[in-house]
Amino acid sequence: MRIDNKEVLSFDDVILEPQYSELTTRKNINTSVQVCYSNKILDFKIPIISSPMSTVTEAHMSNAMISQGGLGIIHRYNTIEFQAKLLGYVNHRDYRAAAVGVSGDYKERLSELVNNDLSVACIDIAHGDHILMEKAIEFIRSEHPHLFIIAGNVATGHAYKRLAFAGAHAVRTSVGSGSICTTRIQTGHGIPTFQAILDCYAVKQELLSNDKDRIPPYIIADGGIKNSGDIVKSLAAGADFTMLGSMLSGTRETPGKTIIQDGKKIKRYNGMASKAAQKNWKGTYNSVEGVSSFVQYKGTTSKVINEIMSNVRSGMSYSGANTIQELIDNAVFRKQSSSSQIEGNPHIFNRNK
Ligand code: IMP
Repeated sequence: MRIDNKEVLSFDDVILEPQYSELTTRKNINTSVQVCYSNKILDFKIPIISSPMSTVTEAHMSNAMISQGGLGIIHRYNTIEFQAKLLGYVNHRDYRAAAVGVSGDYKERLSELVNNDLSVACIDIAHGDHILMEKAIEFIRSEHPHLFIIAGNVATGHAYKRLAFAGAHAVRTSVGSGSICTTRIQTGHGIPTFQAILDCYAVKQELLSNDKDRIPPYIIADGGIKNSGDIVKSLAAGADFTMLGSMLSGTRETPGKTIIQDGKKIKRYNGMASKAAQKNWKGTYNSVEGVSSFVQYKGTTSKVINEIMSNVRSGMSYSGANTIQELIDNAVFRKQSSSSQIEGNPHIFNRNK
């Protein structure tokens, strides 16, 4: 046993210091990300990926995200045939992305997805710092070398490094932060997403300085991103992409029915390790590490993404940044007190209590 006294920081523990700006308009701020791998390039206009969850991403969401310039990853909690069919509905082909596991029928699942023009394979497991993850990456690199591989989830710089050496092109981080997640309560393990980004980014910089010809894995901040401010903080801390579950839940393109309750439209949002999601998927459940919930209907994904991106551009302008790289270069994070956090929320309402 070892005790590491270093504090871990969450999004709300830090605030970005506003910086001098020479930007005269926010409209032209560039939020694009270019992804290079195996002599290929994928261009994204926005650094946002929809989560591979059964109440977030199937074909409609993938298409909506691609048309906004992001990416949607089709979840794996279904039959091989159904997932492959969903992938077949995704519009243009370089951005066909789907999730697989690391055991059971994952090799058959992968070949069926590849037969349906899969380009991005997301190896999607809760504890990605695992030997089976390394083996799955090795297998995909040798059998399907054209695929872009997203691995995860991991929560530390060491794990990021291991997945980098195993051959992952991108790594999802972190563990135990999701809005529907109970992993930290049930297992006592996890690291806040903001801290995990900082730790992975430090290792990414180290790998870059050791070998300038090799691109270290892109960092995907995943879990606990609750508003556009958290997206700006993620990017400023070194994430290349943010993955959204709850922020996209309840949109028109998410799978599932829209229900009317007390005159309000609502949709389901299930943690993939919740009892409800496990029962839907395999008829039984074990080791429950998530909850399921209803969320308000939010309208179209394009409306939600446009609102988010307008706030992200505004956030970049407060750091005087025209690009995401400039955001990282200019960003100054300050730790904030709990009273500063309270002050950062609308507080007029508390005064009348
Ligand atoms: P959110 O954006 O905060 O809602 O978090 C979504 C992320 O939580 C997903 O992308 C997964 O990484 C993670 N996740 C999904 N389902 C579960 C679960 O049941 N337990 C723990 N984490 C989950």
